[in-house]
Parts: sequence; structure tokens; C-alpha cells
Amino acid sequence: MTQPGRSPLWHPFPQHALEGAMLPIARADGAWLTTTDGQRIFDGICSWWVITHGHCHPKIVSAIQEQAARLDQVIFAGFTHEPAERVASVLLALAPEGLAHVFFSDSGSTSVEVALKMALGYWRNVGDTKRNRILALEHAYHGDTIGTMSAGARGVFNAAYEPLLFEVGRIPFPSAGQEQATLDALEAECKTGRTAALIIEPFILGAGGMLIYSEDVLARMRDICTAHGVLLIADEVMTGFGRTGAVFACGRTGIAPDILCLAKGLTGGSIPLAATLCTAAIYDAHYSKDRSKTFFHSSSYTANPIACAAAAANLDVWRSEPVTERIAALAAAHVPLLAKLAGNKHFANPRQIGTIAVIDTVVKDAGYLANVGLAMRKAFVQRGILLRPLGNTVYIMPPYCTTQAELESVYAAIGSVAAEVCA
Ligand SMILES: Cc1ncc(COP(=O)(O)O)c(C=O)c1O
Repeated sequence: MTQPGRSPLWHPFPQHALEGAMLPIARADGAWLTTTDGQRIFDGICSWWVITHGHCHPKIVSAIQEQAARLDQVIFAGFTHEPAERVASVLLALAPEGLAHVFFSDSGSTSVEVALKMALGYWRNVGDTKRNRILALEHAYHGDTIGTMSAGARGVFNAAYEPLLFEVGRIPFPSAGQEQATLDALEAECKTGRTAALIIEPFILGAGGMLIYSEDVLARMRDICTAHGVLLIADEVMTGFGRTGAVFACGRTGIAPDILCLAKGLTGGSIPLAATLCTAAIYDAHYSKDRSKTFFHSSSYTANPIACAAAAANLDVWRSEPVTERIAALAAAHVPLLAKLAGNKHFANPRQIGTIAVIDTVVKDAGYLANVGLAMRKAFVQRGILLRPLGNTVYIMPPYCTTQAELESVYAAIGSVAAEVCA
């Protein structure tokens, strides 16, 4: 078990100098984690937004077990296998129209790195080398590798690495009432003729503070990109697989990106796998007898068969179980509970999209480093709930198997934790 303070095991994000021992988890089922000493903890953030149906879904578990016993791993350069072929064909059938090819990798960050490389490679291979600029939204988050941090918002998270980050064109976030400024800035950047691609998180910026923007603005951004020949990359690493109500957030308005990034929920959250989908035009630009036009990207575990079997089983759950109905019920269950919480003097700015409900705590030091975040997180765990506020922003992103009673107890805990921590 990890000890408080200095530890040989370096965990992602907790500041070991400020936080106590990491909680040892022994097992999980449905919406619940169980510690080694038997404490049950409700997983209110789907273990960093990955779990969809619930932990250890039996169909996904048995697909992993069967695949592990049959074919564990094979190099994906020069070889292929049935689970990868199956996942690719189902994804293409589900994905927005026009996406025709699937490239596998192993995390959300790598799916975005692949997308950025596809976009740059496309323009180079079609002979327009001046198009090498990426546009991204203010407050965006696309991952923690150098390329994805470059596309993401700058701040305390990446200040140390700033000298290595490449410059991107930053488009203002389309807050309600400010949408035209976003569209004008996008249009001005696109007119320079230097833009390779715009990357966006559709409808909701996750790590940037769970900021929601309108469907109309997304459709208009698509139109501007199309008018100027700029590629649109939709990073659905968080929003994919039902979080916003539709399988893919882009499906809510029917807009189709040129490149789509998927990870997290692709395997139902069971095992790492990512996919970057692209149009035929992008694939064709790399399809050539000239070997220098090859898409030069690989990672050792590309399309790992066990991960692909988990993804295939996940997609089968979507087909064979009432997942859409569960998501709709969860989304509806949030509405009155969030409205009631919004009446609490400690909260402001309630917002919701699909299964994700968000509210800000009213504090003097708002922002990601707000002290209230850590204090609330500890108080939630004491009440048997995993919630991980982004600073003073509390969000609930529960698995789709969550019951009404479970959701009510999460909201009740948020109210009582706020009374305790904000007092
Ligand atoms: C929108 C978005 N893109 C990319 C990533 C990076 O994914 P990963 O942590 O799997 O690298 C995340 C992670 O939260 C994300 O929310």
C-alpha cells in the first residue's frame, strides 16, 4: 500500500507533499469501488471518465478473458486480426458520415497526437506546406503529451514545458452571448490560408472546467472550416460513448468532423485503447507508391487484440442492451436534483449536458487550484463517494448503471459537503 508523503510510486496529479496515502482499491462492480478493507465508494466520475456501463461488465470481462487466452498481442504492422477488423467496421458504421478509416493507438493523448499528425501529413502530402498551423479553443484540454499540451490551454499544468510547446492559434471560448467573437476569430485565422486544422471538444470542454457551449456554434464552426478548406478535428475522448446523450457528441447536431478522436469509453473503460477516425481524403493523401508519404506513426501495442476484444464487446453491449434508454434516464434524473442544488447558497452556474451535471461552488479563490477542491474531495471520500472537483467546479459523471437512489445520495453528499467545507 502507498504510504503518505514521499512514496516510491509516483501517482498522476495528486501532490504527494499535500495529500495522504492513496486509497488501496481491491475490486469494483457496477458503479462501486471497494477498498482492501471493504469500504464501498461510489464512482461518481467513472474513474476519470472511462467507465461507461459500469465496472467489470460481465460481457466485457469474459471477452477479455477469452481473447487473452487466444491471442494476446501481435505486431499490427504487416499483420491484422479479427477483433481489430470488427471494431473498425462497427465504429465506422456508428461514426458521423464521411469517416472512412480507423487508426488505433492506446490513449486519448495518442489519439489526438495521431489526429494532429494526420492533419499536418495531409497538407504536406497534397503539396500545401504553408498550412501547418493548428487552431484550438481557449480553455481546451487535449492531453498531457507535448503535442496535446500545445493544443491545450496554457497554465500551471504546462508552464514548465512551455519552451517545448508549439504555438497554436487560440480561438476564444464561445460563452453564451459571445459566440460571434469566436466565429469571427475563427474566420480571421482561416482566411490566412495557413491553418491546417481546428481541434475542438464538441459541446463541452472537460478538464478546462466543464464549460458547455451551444450546438449552433459547433455547426457554424464546421461551416467556416469547410468554407476555408480547414480540417476539423473532434476530440471526443471524453464526450464519446454516450456522455452527452448521443453515442458521439457530434451526432447531436449531425456535424461530421474530418478527424474523430476516441479513447476512454471505447472499451467501456476496461482497458486502454484509442482510435482516430479520418476521411478518405486524408487516408488517400497518405496512400502512395512514394514511401515518403507513408503515415509514420506507430506504437508497440497498436490495436492490441485484448483491448480490441474489449472494445468489440463494449460495442456489442451498445447494440444488445438498452444503453441509450439508461443514458436518457440518467440525464433526466439529474435535472430536478441539479435544480434543487442550484438553490443552495454555496452554488452557482448549474449546467448539464446528457449524463454530465456540473455546478460551481461559490468561493473567493475560484479556479483549478482553489483549496475547496481538495477539501471537498476528501470529504466526499469520507462519505463513500469518488468526486474530484476541478478546483471549485463540482461535476458528476456517473456510470450508466447508476440508480435513482444512488444519484440522490450523491447530490445529498454534495450539499452536505458544501455546508461543511464552505462554512
Ligand atoms: C478531451 C480529452 N482529450 C484527450 C484526453 C487525454 O486522454 P488520456 O488521458 O487517455 O491520454 C482527455 C483526458 O481527460 C480529454 O478529456
